[in-house]
Amino acid sequence: MGSVKIQNMTKTFGDFTALHDINLDIKEGEFFALLGPSGCGKTTTMRCVAGFENPTSGSIYIGDREVENVPANKRNCGMVFQSYALFPHMDVFDNVAYSLNIKHLNASNPIKRLSIFGRLLSKRLGKYPDDIRNKVMEILEYVELDQHANRLTSELSGGQQQRVALARALVMEPAVLLMDEPLSNLDQKLRHSMRNTIRTIQQDLGITTIFVTHDQEEAMSMADRVAVMDKGHIVQIGTPTDLYSNPQTPFIANFVGTSNILKGTVAAEENGMTVMKGEGFQLKSSNKAKNKDVDIIIRPEHVRVEPADSVIDPLQTNVIEGEVIMSTYLGSIVRYDVQVGSYQLIVDTTYSSGANIFQEGKKVKLTVDHERVLLI
Ligand SMILES: Nc1ncnc2c1ncn2[C@@H]1O[C@H](COP(=O)(O)OP(=O)(O)OP(=O)(O)O)[C@@H](O)[C@H]1O
Ligand SMILES: [Mg+2]
Repeated sequence: MGSVKIQNMTKTFGDFTALHDINLDIKEGEFFALLGPSGCGKTTTMRCVAGFENPTSGSIYIGDREVENVPANKRNCGMVFQSYALFPHMDVFDNVAYSLNIKHLNASNPIKRLSIFGRLLSKRLGKYPDDIRNKVMEILEYVELDQHANRLTSELSGGQQQRVALARALVMEPAVLLMDEPLSNLDQKLRHSMRNTIRTIQQDLGITTIFVTHDQEEAMSMADRVAVMDKGHIVQIGTPTDLYSNPQTPFIANFVGTSNILKGTVAAEENGMTVMKGEGFQLKSSNKAKNKDVDIIIRPEHVRVEPADSVIDPLQTNVIEGEVIMSTYLGSIVRYDVQVGSYQLIVDTTYSSGANIFQEGKKVKLTVDHERVLLI
């Protein structure tokens, strides 16, 4: 059983509380991301699950087993670190075989142990017992490194080293795979392809995975569910689409994707609409406000921009006047910064070739559908 449950976990270092009452329920086979800015407690949470750190209070279950008194090497967790932590003087095969051999060694009788120990010292592929050799080669094929089995890891590219680290964790057939910022040392292009590799392997094996990152795009594109952390707290847990379309706090709205956040006051409730006023704008939303003072969240891609003199459909509830202060051509989209009262709103419009791009100083009208106006 590879589910992971964390109940009321806190962790303090001296006077400093790094984790406040963490609760997580990660299902078997789930790809779960811990997302948050630097210092929010992601690694500490992971280290507590792995057994490298003890929670100050609370409990952790891996499967049905409460693991408080279970040492790290008995928790059946595979770990992949940001730094890979490979042995540079060993080749790819030995790096991956290392832990398997140790396990074999621990499990064997003393005479067998001696002979296996001899093999461990040997760097020749053929000297490993067949079962270890086959298993290591199988996993190396899986991460497409079988052709490099005899290369020193110090001679590999970043992406290849990353795959060795992954193979080394997977070869132990852990119940839970823990990955702490595994892609952050890779360049942009490689990160993208490694995301797919990791996700495919995870799904193929159905292995419960906790993936730590501060990169929202990474978390959103890979995970089944994401827990967003801030200052040692979990602020929201949900699927990527949940988090994007229903952020519970302005912090999440900003951290998960780009948002325009405006301060407004509820002026009226009419015909199922919340009417809000703020500096330089009035907006209507079909969403309910919990308080009189609200944070109004509008995603850049939900705003349309038109010249100030264009005739707007009278059924359009939200029309705001503004002035373009910057336009940035990004290939498939054009991003505008538009001054509206005291706010600079970000507007993303799809760009079709030959279309006119509004230049700095252009007076425009912005429109946004009422259901796209989120209230927190
Ligand atoms: N051993 C320790 N002693 C004291 N403080 C610690 C220790 N380990 C972590 N902390 C503190 O706990 C907080 C959370 O650290 P953690 O490493 O979990 O953050 P993180 O979310 O992984 O950040 P990053 O994205 O930078 O890796 C930080 O303020 C950190 O300084
Ligand atoms: Mg960390």
